[in-house]
Amino acid sequence: MRALVMTAPGGAENSVLAEIDEPVPGPGEVTIDVAHAGLNFVDVMARRGDAGYASWPHRPGLEVSGTVRALGPDVHDLTVGDRVVAVPKGAGMSEIALAAAELTVPVPDGVGLAEAAATPLGLATSLLLLTEAGRFNPGDTVLVHSASGGIGTAIARLVPLLGGGRLIGTVGRPEKIAEAERAGYQLVLARDSDPTEAIRSATGGRGVDLVLDPLGTTALGLDLDLAAPGGRVVLFGNATGAPIDALPPVERLLRGNLTISGFSHRGLVADAPTRVAAAVSRILGFLADGRLTLPVTEVPGLADIPAAHDLLAEGRGTGKYVARIGAAG
Ligand SMILES: NC(=O)c1ccc[n+]([C@@H]2O[C@H](COP(=O)([O-])OP(=O)(O)OC[C@H]3O[C@@H](n4cnc5c(N)ncnc54)[C@H](OP(=O)(O)O)[C@@H]3O)[C@@H](O)[C@H]2O)c1
Repeated sequence: MRALVMTAPGGAENSVLAEIDEPVPGPGEVTIDVAHAGLNFVDVMARRGDAGYASWPHRPGLEVSGTVRALGPDVHDLTVGDRVVAVPKGAGMSEIALAAAELTVPVPDGVGLAEAAATPLGLATSLLLLTEAGRFNPGDTVLVHSASGGIGTAIARLVPLLGGGRLIGTVGRPEKIAEAERAGYQLVLARDSDPTEAIRSATGGRGVDLVLDPLGTTALGLDLDLAAPGGRVVLFGNATGAPIDALPPVERLLRGNLTISGFSHRGLVADAPTRVAAAVSRILGFLADGRLTLPVTEVPGLADIPAAHDLLAEGRGTGKYVARIGAAG
């Protein structure tokens, strides 16, 4: 079977298509004929060689949709041919992927496998950031950095389903403002000039209840300046790859009743997979009943993924990308 392989740290020049042995499911595992694979910034972090994200050669792909191809010996809740999504055991950008059955979730009728491919990592992260890490309450004012990307646009589409709130986003370049607004942000500011005063003024000086921040610690000062009393800041990425600074003095958190927390999909997959699967099921329910629509940009095939990764790596991507791998569904 064919798979995308990253041969060494670098860019698209080190991503190749290779013939790989088909995986065989062991106990508690399934294999999946992959229809679509979601692209995520974590692929770029692996590709550029961020510590802890890849060993070489690296086979990317952490979210897939497709149909169950084969079951491991003790898997009883799934059937060959079921339409599913999964967090695979890596290597999702392959014609056949291997996944734990507990991280493989049936796709309801009426939900297409292209949009479903965005649920295991991207949409699950977006939902869990709001509900678990961010303790979102209806009516909250939420500030999201990188608002026009895959996670950023998904958060904007989920907030109304969780009771609604005020959505403020920041983006790295002014040309991405329109995409974030289309997703549902009411105020979007480019970070090429300091957005602090504009956000403070837009919130009547009060600040925001929740900040969802994937920019390492580069924006943490701004986050804390803008956090309302009792505000929560969730750190969930390091897109810039910049060194991580020390957290602020405890006195600052005490004085403002502030919380800084972290979120890791990878950590939850390892430690609490049922919470990830539950989030995926909940989102598939939103898609099935029509409350959530998720526009995705379809990358036509495995061979086209490296160029799409370039878009993400250069900060030029907007919205969510999924690659067609096998038969559509
Ligand atoms: N903790 C977790 O479990 C988890 C799970 C999924 C994703 N994430 C993180 O969430 C963020 C969004 O992920 P995504 O998959 O939806 O990707 P994405 O938003 O489509 O792309 C990443 C964004 O990072 C921003 N960025 C800032 N500095 C950058 C740099 N030096 N190079 C490239 N991009 C830069 C860009 O947006 P702006 O320029 O507009 O800021 C870019 O659009 C990423 O940081 C990712 O690592 C974390």
